[in-house]
Amino acid sequence: MLACNPNAAIEDSPIVSLKPLKKAVLPVAGLGTRFLPATKAMAKEMLPVVDKPLIQYAVDEARAAGIEQFCFITGRGKTAIVEHFDVAYELERTLADRNKTAELEALRAQSMTPGSIVTVRQQVPLGLGHAIWCARSFVGDDPFAILLPDDLMMCETPCTGQLVAAYHETGGNVVAIEEVPRERVNRYGVLDVAEDKGRLVSVKGLVEKPPIEKAPSNLTIIGRYVLMPEVMGFLSRLEKGAGGEVQLTDSMAKLIGMQPFHGLRYEGKRFDCGDKAGFLEAQVAFALRRPDLAPAMKSILKAYA
Ligand code: UTP
Repeated sequence: MLACNPNAAIEDSPIVSLKPLKKAVLPVAGLGTRFLPATKAMAKEMLPVVDKPLIQYAVDEARAAGIEQFCFITGRGKTAIVEHFDVAYELERTLADRNKTAELEALRAQSMTPGSIVTVRQQVPLGLGHAIWCARSFVGDDPFAILLPDDLMMCETPCTGQLVAAYHETGGNVVAIEEVPRERVNRYGVLDVAEDKGRLVSVKGLVEKPPIEKAPSNLTIIGRYVLMPEVMGFLSRLEKGAGGEVQLTDSMAKLIGMQPFHGLRYEGKRFDCGDKAGFLEAQVAFALRRPDLAPAMKSILKAYA
């Protein structure tokens, strides 16, 4: 594992051997206030895009990147998420009895290895940093990925897979980044760039939701991360940041100078499904990619144009 030693040389130190990335944390304990009233009694992460809930897209993406162990950070009203990944015996039997073979196979293809999901309760949603800190026992001494399921990714190579590949290149922490118009930087974690190498950007600082005029760049962090376990030490201080929440960005910033820290300009497109317009756009984009739905979606779009 990479030492969390403030005096250690960083960017140029050879990466001898990296621990494989097998763990992912998926925080799903947020209140989803932007989606009320839909999220009053239902988890935001269970909202479907076409015919799959957001959480399933995130798990599929992580599995495609070689992740084998999952930790869901849950909260009140989130039990449907855990149910979704359970075996539904009665449903499977009914589908079999009715010869609905394709549906049955689709259901079984998504079944999880027993013991591969653990859930941890974040009793009070004190912020993303607090949610991640709740996974400290699960993470232990291992590097881990984080996927925020409301960021839905459409990528040829799954976004988490791109991050894992970058981690094997650089070692240390890697976060997926994208450029946003300057007037929107105050909604995101923003990079202070040490060196922009194109696809990879080495980072000298991070700031969460800066005022537009003080933002160090317009490169922002999206909901995909590969982090080293040492971030937990900083998160355990539970210091409040922007918006009075325990911000993950603030603790990640403290790793800079101790370990490599890079941003990766991922290839693909992100849909912010925590936001109504982003969610609606995702429905259209994902339906248009489905051979069984694209013709119908095209004529619907034409009718409303
Ligand atoms: P958001 O910033 O989208 O917050 O969280 P939210 O509560 O889900 O939604 P809004 O802003 O009120 O509409 C980003 C991710 O972090 C998780 C959320 O579940 C989401 O996946 N989260 C956030 C937690 O798990 N716990 C928290 O305390 C905050």
